[in-house]
Amino acid sequence: MSAPPGDGPNPLLDGLRIEPTPEPTALVIFGASGDLTRRKLLPAIYQLSRAQHLPARFNVLGVARSPMTDDQFRQQFHESLEEFAGLTQPDEVSSALAQNLGYVQGEMDDPGLYAKVGAKLTEMRCPDGVLFYLAVPPVVYGTIVEQLSAAGLTTPATPQGWRRIIVEKPFGTDLDSARELNRLMHAHLDESQIFRIDHYLGKETVQNLLVFRFANGMFEPVWNRRYIDHVQITAAETVGVERRANYYEGAGALRDMVQNHLMQVLAMIAMEPPIAFSAENVRDRKHDVLASIQPIATSPEAGRDADVVRAQYAAGWVAGAEVPGYRQEDGVSPDSTTETYVALRLHLDSWRWAGVPFYLRTGKRLPKRTTEIAIQFRKPPLHIFKRISPTAIASNLLIVNVQPDEGISVRFEAKLPGSRMQLAPVMMNFRYGSAFGTAVPEAYETLLLDAMLGDPTLFARHDFVEASWSLITPVHEAWRASGSTAIPIYEAGEWGPREADAMMSADTRRWRTL
Ligand code: BG6
Repeated sequence: MSAPPGDGPNPLLDGLRIEPTPEPTALVIFGASGDLTRRKLLPAIYQLSRAQHLPARFNVLGVARSPMTDDQFRQQFHESLEEFAGLTQPDEVSSALAQNLGYVQGEMDDPGLYAKVGAKLTEMRCPDGVLFYLAVPPVVYGTIVEQLSAAGLTTPATPQGWRRIIVEKPFGTDLDSARELNRLMHAHLDESQIFRIDHYLGKETVQNLLVFRFANGMFEPVWNRRYIDHVQITAAETVGVERRANYYEGAGALRDMVQNHLMQVLAMIAMEPPIAFSAENVRDRKHDVLASIQPIATSPEAGRDADVVRAQYAAGWVAGAEVPGYRQEDGVSPDSTTETYVALRLHLDSWRWAGVPFYLRTGKRLPKRTTEIAIQFRKPPLHIFKRISPTAIASNLLIVNVQPDEGISVRFEAKLPGSRMQLAPVMMNFRYGSAFGTAVPEAYETLLLDAMLGDPTLFARHDFVEASWSLITPVHEAWRASGSTAIPIYEAGEWGPREADAMMSADTRRWRTL
């Protein structure tokens, strides 16, 4: 993999890029004084503008309960860039953006707020292409959509106008609530106007799975049960619950990470080739994957082990620092059984994947922050070198490093130099950083831009969300029905509980050491 010379602009990339620019857009952010807006959305807008991806006419209207003037919102914009985009001083780009910011304060269930939003859009001479962003707690999604619709804000005023809405996760907390939310949204909006965000789909490496699989001729022929032994998807975090106990206590790792992010990643790996790279084709094939997954066994059944292990972190050490256990965290109940770790074994009933288990695991307070997909291939049928190189052959592995250090590696066996014929596993690596000499964009930049362009390919469709909840909800119900107050424990800084290792060893496999 050759790196382009120098660190400066990469002429190769500049020549290759063909990026459409969105139509004039007004971005209306509900929850404008919140964390997500400050950490992710405002910095993403700035970066998009710097990269000249924003239309010439672009406005941001912040909406929230906190009282703020337009100028105070501008100030918040600059502070957020300072803190999260490393911009010590306003520059030309941020100053130009700031001129087109506005703010409206009010209660989300007050029709008066929506009248004010409409009036402010007119006062700011905003374009008729309006993207609403719901960066608010899920309990108010329904209210906002109803109120927007009642105020006539979901319908454009001109033939060129458009209205779209981005909904943050979590989309529901179980199958019934997700269905209800879909029903409510569909009562006021067409599915093509709804963009359910899953920031994992905005990650460059996750999108690249499609290119890797479907723009190359050499991988797809072996991408099936004949060559692949199993797949492991790991999303490991070193952080604990942080200051989010309020939300996390009712969510847990299965809802927080698996139902959305890991299911999306799994679908990208396991999907059949779509007939074209269009939103509906891609999302049809992804939905097929979820529809093919067998129900998850929550306890040992006839001839079958349980497919899921949950656990919670106890006090321990992470990155050289002593950290408290989950139950000692602020806002967590001292007898909480919320899982901070979950491991799953999924079986797909499809021609491509029958008999190939997909193992998923995610947890907080694990030893390392890393998200990776490991595809382990079957061994060759015969070890013809075994008399000279008695050690077992290591399986070929294809590893997609989703983050950090984004890239793809292939592990294969090589002859140990100077030996008669001894074997040793080696890695062949592709890294985004060195191959393209450019940083990968933040997921929120990609997704905001796609929503402005009206491209929902990288957003969750209603049926995907419901299919995912239909797999996950019975697991929660079984956990609840068990009434168990015990939950396996792992020490902070360990790779999960013993039970998760046991699940693998029952299949004569092991979790990868990361
Ligand atoms: C969020 C979860 O959706 O994803 C968090 O709510 C989690 O609990 C985060 O920490 C992980 O995202 P990333 O991009 O850091 O892998």
